[in-house]
Amino acid sequence: MSKEPIILAVESSCDDTAAAILKGQKILSNVVANQKVHQYFGGVVPELASRAHQQNIIPVVDAAIKEAKITKNDVDAIAFTKGPGLLGSLLVGSSFAKSFAMGMDIPLIAVNHMQGHILSHFIDEGNAIPEFPFLCLTVSGGHTQIVKVDSPNKMEVIGTTLDDAAGEAFDKSAKILGLPYPGGPLIDKHAKKGNIYAFEFGKPKVKQLDFSFSGLKTSIMRLIQKGIVENPKFITENLEDLCASIQHSIVSILLKKLEKAIQQTGITQIAIAGGVSANSYLRSELEQLAKTNNFSLYIPKFEYCTDNAAMIAIAGYFKYLDNDFSDQSETPSARLLF
Ligand code: KG4
Ligand code: ZN
Repeated sequence: MSKEPIILAVESSCDDTAAAILKGQKILSNVVANQKVHQYFGGVVPELASRAHQQNIIPVVDAAIKEAKITKNDVDAIAFTKGPGLLGSLLVGSSFAKSFAMGMDIPLIAVNHMQGHILSHFIDEGNAIPEFPFLCLTVSGGHTQIVKVDSPNKMEVIGTTLDDAAGEAFDKSAKILGLPYPGGPLIDKHAKKGNIYAFEFGKPKVKQLDFSFSGLKTSIMRLIQKGIVENPKFITENLEDLCASIQHSIVSILLKKLEKAIQQTGITQIAIAGGVSANSYLRSELEQLAKTNNFSLYIPKFEYCTDNAAMIAIAGYFKYLDNDFSDQSETPSARLLF
């Protein structure tokens, strides 16, 4: 049997600069540098993200190589995020990867960020892995998709958001509540002691397996504005109940469509991926649903939910096996589709 390839991957699609090294499907290192600079602005500032990636990329790759206890000469291929994401941020990772591939004379592999999130389930840490075909609810700051996964390199989006992503719904709601960016984890935290039925928000009416979250945002804004007129301390006095009710609304929208997808396709291997899959309420509700409906559920480890390069490395690994390589003319794409 030929030796397991060593893949170095870089991820720079948004505001995390990440590098990871995989040997076959096993992790040798996984390094993420978060960018704190955006917290002051209530969201990611693309120009600042790109500049921070430029400062971080070499130290982060260096740390990944050292942590993996290899040298750069041991790397068999380099994978990078081609998109979707912020163009200025993607350019930093893709330029680095192209230079590294050229300098070391090794193959270059372009990876779709969303496919990376889905394939993070195949990082081998002794965990159960989904059987093909499976459905993946991919929920992040920029995307909300139900994906039918036939094989590592064959996937189809069967449902998507028509406006905001689930993560955006969390972050924008948090902003209305005066919480800093990214607000998703904070809503999760405050919701733990709140009543999910304290407040009710408008429900979207969207056909088939698609989603919509912009109406929910408006409904939340109206309720809070009205509450503040009646009581200036409305938010602080109701923060836990507001967070619990908002989180319940977002998660209910996601689960309703996922259940519909399971009914339509008859597929009972179910996975979740992306930053919002770190949400504790989504995880527990899904576990409940899996028990009652008898489907197999795959939930990634926390470190593989939010953006990381290990997921780009595993997607790169499957492309490596397929000899699916790119050349120096490869360019990033902000709106890359599957
Ligand atoms: O996948 P990700 O790290 O980046 C993108 O590709 O967008 O996802 C980031 C999103 C943010 O919107 C963040 O608020 C959300 O994931 N998020 C959460 C939680 N942890 C991260 N949302 C709800 N609950 C959480 N615990
Ligand atoms: Zn992501």
